[in-house]
Amino acid sequence: MPKFYIETVGCQMNVLDSELAGAALIRSGMEPADSITDADVILFNTCSVRQHAEDKVYSALGRLKQWKEQKPVSVLGIIGCMAQKDQKLIFQRVPYADLVLGPGQLDVLAETVRQLFDAKSGGRKPSVLQRVCVSLPRNAGKHHEVIESFRLYNPERMIRGGLMPAAAGSPSLVRIMFGCNQFCSYCIVPYVRGPEQSRPPQDILNEVKLLADGGAAKITFIGQTVNSYCYNNNGKITKLADLLYLASETAGVQQIDFVTNYPLGIDDRLLQAVRDLPKVVKHFHVPAQSGSDTVLQRMNRHYTSARYREMTDQIYETVPGATMTSDFIVGFCGETDAEFEQTVDLVKYCRFRNSFIFKYSGRKGTKSAELYADDVPEEVKKHRNNRLLEVQIGISRRGAHVAKHGQSESDAV
Ligand code: SAH
Ligand code: SF4
Ligand code: F3S
Repeated sequence: MPKFYIETVGCQMNVLDSELAGAALIRSGMEPADSITDADVILFNTCSVRQHAEDKVYSALGRLKQWKEQKPVSVLGIIGCMAQKDQKLIFQRVPYADLVLGPGQLDVLAETVRQLFDAKSGGRKPSVLQRVCVSLPRNAGKHHEVIESFRLYNPERMIRGGLMPAAAGSPSLVRIMFGCNQFCSYCIVPYVRGPEQSRPPQDILNEVKLLADGGAAKITFIGQTVNSYCYNNNGKITKLADLLYLASETAGVQQIDFVTNYPLGIDDRLLQAVRDLPKVVKHFHVPAQSGSDTVLQRMNRHYTSARYREMTDQIYETVPGATMTSDFIVGFCGETDAEFEQTVDLVKYCRFRNSFIFKYSGRKGTKSAELYADDVPEEVKKHRNNRLLEVQIGISRRGAHVAKHGQSESDAV
């Protein structure tokens, strides 16, 4: 029985995809390997959000060259966001890779891995020994054709009568929407994850029930802009607030939370649902990215710093005891000291429990890389990263908005 190992980097989308991919491989007759070197099939689930994430994957793949040479009957697959973005480039840089498969093609992963493995072990012969399975680029067809090429993959989350192996103690992830339509100028995600697609509410609720029946007490709804969730069934609209009410009724579910929110979609109904539903965690992760209106404009974020502050006030006023966390990009194209200081002011105003701080990384194919120079020196980016982190840590230590402490994370070294 071939053994597989999946290495995952990136966000919770990838964590869930790896879980689903692992279950599909088990269903197809493979078994999980104890360690990477023990495996016959290695899959790298990759992230393209910053250059650093890609560099890490390429150096890890470089280290696998020897494993590959020593194990002719083996499959090395690159899946996830880099697979969708770089496609043939990956085969140029990693000629010993066997498979490149994007996030919209997970439904054919197990079968494709099996075919490649069987071909190498002398079984059935497929026409090729290397495969590329990716979705259409966003401008490579009519809207519906592009959407259809990013296929929703929602297998039953049971393997051999048991629940899929979510990491011990962590909440079970339930995807409620795929893709992103925001096109923030710096971000690769809309290109690699495709157009926004909300799942039918009944499918989501069935999945929650299945997970709860299998013993999952904590559920996390995930989506790139989770609060944009909107499903239209012949005029009957279901939004995130409705889903929270419906999922709260599931027996066995004790806790529900949701990530990641886009600032403009935090409305009264959502806030009231979070306030009124005892099972819903009183916490909002709402990335602000910057506190400067001019930077936010260049980022194509569609709100001002004042609007973000109003939203923060609204959260704290409507939901007693609520906490907030945020993401920030420092050193974005053209960011001046004065613009950066406005971000510091925003962090002080909002009193986040924690902030995730990233240094801007230009991504080929995005608008900011095309329109603006990546002109903030690395040293300045580092300095701003450290300074913002210090401010955030000070707030977290003093107890943020409520007396709950978070560990701040950052690109800083
Ligand atoms: N969909 C989520 C987050 C997506 S990526 C959202 O909109 O909130 C996670 C974080 O990575 C972003 O919030 C942003 O802060 C950061 N990020 C995205 N692209 C980046 C880039 N090109 N350089 C640096 N950080 C980036
Ligand atoms: Fe990227 Fe913006 Fe979409 Fe988040 S909302 S995934 S930052 S484009
Ligand atoms: Fe990375 Fe893809 Fe998530 S680019 S942040 S793994 S959606």
